[in-house]
Amino acid sequence: TTIETFIQHIPKAELHLHIEGTLEPELMMKIAKRNEISLDYESVDEIKKAYQFSNLQDFLDIYYAGANVLRHETDFFDLTWSYLTKAHSQNIVHTEIFFDPQTHTERGVAFSTVITGIHKALEKAQNELGISSKIIMSILRHLDEDSALETLKEALPYKEWITAIGLDSSEVGNPPSKFARVFEKAKTEGFETVAHAGEEGDAGYVREAIEILKVSRIDHGNRSLEDELLIKHIVENKIPLTVCPLSNLKLKVVKEAIDHPLLKMLNRGMVATVNSDDPAYFGGYINENFLAMSEALNLTAKHVHQLSRNSFIASFLTQEEKSKWI
Ligand code: ADE
Ligand code: ZN
Repeated sequence: TTIETFIQHIPKAELHLHIEGTLEPELMMKIAKRNEISLDYESVDEIKKAYQFSNLQDFLDIYYAGANVLRHETDFFDLTWSYLTKAHSQNIVHTEIFFDPQTHTERGVAFSTVITGIHKALEKAQNELGISSKIIMSILRHLDEDSALETLKEALPYKEWITAIGLDSSEVGNPPSKFARVFEKAKTEGFETVAHAGEEGDAGYVREAIEILKVSRIDHGNRSLEDELLIKHIVENKIPLTVCPLSNLKLKVVKEAIDHPLLKMLNRGMVATVNSDDPAYFGGYINENFLAMSEALNLTAKHVHQLSRNSFIASFLTQEEKSKWI
């Protein structure tokens, strides 16, 4: 259809993408084999069959287990390069990717191994595919403050490569306030900040991320719609929401595609963007996310254009860099 072609061709920025969540079953098996790691699965089909989740934690357990095959710099390079070629095929011209260092350092893989592999792939993508990028180092919120502070310290020698600090993993029971000091230090060190909030947690989690962590973007933010005063604050301060439609469906944050709040967010004047979160696990990259929403919510080319425009506005590019795309 014409909307499908429009979605494919329009230049887009992706702002909510976990690099560990782009590990396709084929690559997982290939890396497991060369690293001589035995998997719990015999085939790609068997892996795919295991990807059925009833909530966020269900998914996280499988996602952290999958990341266990990643051991060497080349593994992180291959993982990132594979995502970047896919992104290029979908007309993503700028991407801001999360990585979860603690997922790797906790099992003995050095911070430098992880970030160097990712960085080298991003550099190659800039040179060969013309894709610009930023790295967001995300803190695992189910771990304690000390681990977060230690991870922030490990990031300092790589300041040139890391634009922002984020917060992800199990939301309910791990509110933003748990990391108030970590985010204060991150800001003092000159990092931008973002946080996952309002995915499974209620509007109070979004409020804390904004008021206590003072983040410049909210990842997901779905449940901010439950609080009128909060909506007003988000609109007036133009705080972007990085929304992930297929993720929300797979993790049962939203029941059916037609119930997805994306259009409501746009109609309320929120700077919403469309992203793929963990595409290898949720059944689609950015264009499939756009397409699912355009079909369910009858999005027009105008909506798609607004969402693409929002993705650049909400990005960490400079005004001058943004003006090339908006
Ligand atoms: N880590 C990877 N994907 C995530 C998500 N959607 N929510 C929280 N943590 C995550
Ligand atoms: Zn996420």
